[in-house]
Amino acid sequence: MRKKTNKTSKKNKALALQTPKGMHDILPQDQVFWNRIKRQVKEIAEYYSFLRIDTPILERAELFERSLGETTDVVEKQMFVFKSKGKDRLVLRPEGTASIARAYIQHGLSHIAQPLKLYYEGPMFRYEQPQAGRFRQFHQAGFEMISHDDDPIYDAQVILACYRAIEGLKIKKLTIQINTIGCKNCRPAYRQKLQNYYKSRERHLCRDCRRRLTTNPLRLLDCQNKDCQDLKKDAPIMLDNLCGFCNSHFKAVLEYIEELKLPYNLNNHLVRGLDYYNRTVFEIFAEGFYSALAGGGRYDYLIELLGGRHSSAVGGAIGLERLIEVIKASNIIFPMKTKNKVFLIHIGNLAKKKSLTLIEELRNNNIDILESLGKDSLKAQLRSADKFKCPLALIFGQKEAFEESIIIRDLHYGTQETVPLKKMADVIKRKLK
Ligand code: HAM
Repeated sequence: MRKKTNKTSKKNKALALQTPKGMHDILPQDQVFWNRIKRQVKEIAEYYSFLRIDTPILERAELFERSLGETTDVVEKQMFVFKSKGKDRLVLRPEGTASIARAYIQHGLSHIAQPLKLYYEGPMFRYEQPQAGRFRQFHQAGFEMISHDDDPIYDAQVILACYRAIEGLKIKKLTIQINTIGCKNCRPAYRQKLQNYYKSRERHLCRDCRRRLTTNPLRLLDCQNKDCQDLKKDAPIMLDNLCGFCNSHFKAVLEYIEELKLPYNLNNHLVRGLDYYNRTVFEIFAEGFYSALAGGGRYDYLIELLGGRHSSAVGGAIGLERLIEVIKASNIIFPMKTKNKVFLIHIGNLAKKKSLTLIEELRNNNIDILESLGKDSLKAQLRSADKFKCPLALIFGQKEAFEESIIIRDLHYGTQETVPLKKMADVIKRKLK
């Protein structure tokens, strides 16, 4: 009986030391994907002249409450909020756009460029029920453009940046879902029409949608509940209720997308889950995958809402875990550029003692090495050199350490020569060529 209790408490202790629910370690074997994705995002961003920005992982809770909307799922249910010792209400950032808007106002960034193009990448946090493609800690890479005007070409540029970043990872069959949700002038009347339509069908709605009907009726259009999905088929759509300005803006965005020959679908039910959007909204999907790889849209009112001068803006963010899921499921391989490495073998205490200095000498000469300094037997070290397919082994024994020389062994041909340490780097470089 006692034994069992010990076992259980051991198990509980082990569990307590695991990652929090919905959060993951990124293990060495997955770093190849992360490195490749981050490189891809950086290349695309730099090509299209987006400047890197990094904002804190913690922000004041109020920033997101005001930006994303009090009645959005993210603010209502998904924020990790806590009080600091100084009694500030802080939050682990659930997304990047609000922070960018805050930084834009706080540092007066409008003088840097017009439009100002920014990009970022890093962890975000949402208290979600973890499932495939949905985590509590996840990573986004985002592109944002802030400007004095709302030129529709900016919408196309942001969509293009997101699309190219994903496409460059060899992910095939991407589709852009796109819609417009109008502006301050045309949306209120549409919202009213939508409410009227749903009011008479309220009893068929799910509990969440019944609540949203008064607070956020546009969200009824993207509810996944079967009954709500059936109802939306006949619901009025924003496209038929746009003002003239929004109509021509959206038309122009679509023309740019068509000119670029990017595959897109007009999705009248796409509304997005964050309140700061107006006009263009979009999401990018890969064939066969249910969750969006990226999402974004225009947010012309956010900067003013947060206390800045009126500025137009548009942006999008890519979910990096979802990219990795698609990459793995599609068996996409990123060949690793392998550099020839030499294997350092030490024999005896004096050689072992001098090995670290020897490695520094090689590092100063840009020669990559592998070693197993913890293994002392020659056989074990040769086996490791063989395993890593090193073309050369450097054999550093007692005699060599004493005479300041080293044996350079060609592991392919089995030949070897002893060279003075002073000449070691030159000889290795010649042989590696
Ligand atoms: P979002 O649609 O909430 O938009 O997130 C963008 C992307 O982040 C999603 O398409 C998805 O790939 C990924 N993502 C979101 N939530 C999770 C999660 N819980 N687990 C894993 N991946 C997730 C935004 O965040 C906006 N800030 C995008 C934007 C930028 N709009 C304008 N500028």
